Amino acid sequence: MPTVREALAEAAQVLRSSGIDTARLDAEVLLAFVLKVSRTDLYVKNDRVIPNNKLREFLAAVARRSRREPVAYITGEKEFMSLPFLVNRKVLIPRPETEVLVEWVIERAGDSQVIVDVGTGSGAIAVSLATYLPKARIWAVDISDAALEVARENAARLGVRERIQFLNSSLLDGIPAGLDGKVDWIIANLPYIPSAEVSWLQPEVSQYEPHTALDGGGDGLYLYRELVIRAYEVLATGGWLCLEMGTGQTEGLTKLLPEERWGEGIQVLQDYAGLDRFIVIRKKT
Ligand SMILES: C[S@@+](CC[C@H](N)C(=O)[O-])C[C@H]1O[C@@H](n2cnc3c(N)ncnc32)[C@H](O)[C@@H]1O
Repeated sequence: MPTVREALAEAAQVLRSSGIDTARLDAEVLLAFVLKVSRTDLYVKNDRVIPNNKLREFLAAVARRSRREPVAYITGEKEFMSLPFLVNRKVLIPRPETEVLVEWVIERAGDSQVIVDVGTGSGAIAVSLATYLPKARIWAVDISDAALEVARENAARLGVRERIQFLNSSLLDGIPAGLDGKVDWIIANLPYIPSAEVSWLQPEVSQYEPHTALDGGGDGLYLYRELVIRAYEVLATGGWLCLEMGTGQTEGLTKLLPEERWGEGIQVLQDYAGLDRFIVIRKKT
């Protein structure tokens, strides 16, 4: 039976030959997951022999990864905003860049704000905001029941289930009319990849993540085009609309928010790579 060091070297080699750039890291994450230890423990005890049943589990995980399944779907977990989120193939794996937007909102949202997360997926945005803004009232909307199930479970595990209303709705259609003009923040990370580009994405994304979480129609802005109309009615005066977008969509998305309606205050925020990634705008007062 191989030691930790030997198994890691072998697995990294298999993953590298499948074209995975992060082969060694992925092998470590998968072995740590199977052995239920930290990655640091793997280094400290790298002469430890891996028991047979664990070795079988590890080899199965490596085989899945070598078919380009994302690590997070294999482990069933992804960290976002320092919180452990359950994920499965019904939800997009939360991306680190989305944390930039969530942090931006947390820094600015005062007490007792009403927040709507449109296209909640795993609940990454809604659950993080509920955790870090303990007085906020939050609505989490998705068109996918399976995604809402994951989001509800994440909220329950992280102790904020009672503070979030989950709603199966297309965009803001199901938001009660009583909330019109009362919402302080609408945050949306909706599908924004142009349809023709979905199949060009990395196999981890195009073959494993749900296309309802990726495909944003012809130019990628199909859903945002519709969202901004109702968002204006739902937002309170002075409320914020915050949208995540793809590279190259700044101009197209800006055009959906005309100055005569929304005012001049459009801001473009960058992600960790310095790319335009978010548009935020405040409904004029
Ligand atoms: C890009 S994922 C974002 C998930 C999560 N907010 C995040 O940042 O990790 C987009 C989500 O929007 C949902 N969605 C797609 N079309 C929708 C629609 N018309 N109304 C509401 N949600 C929609 C998808 O089911 C998916 O969960």
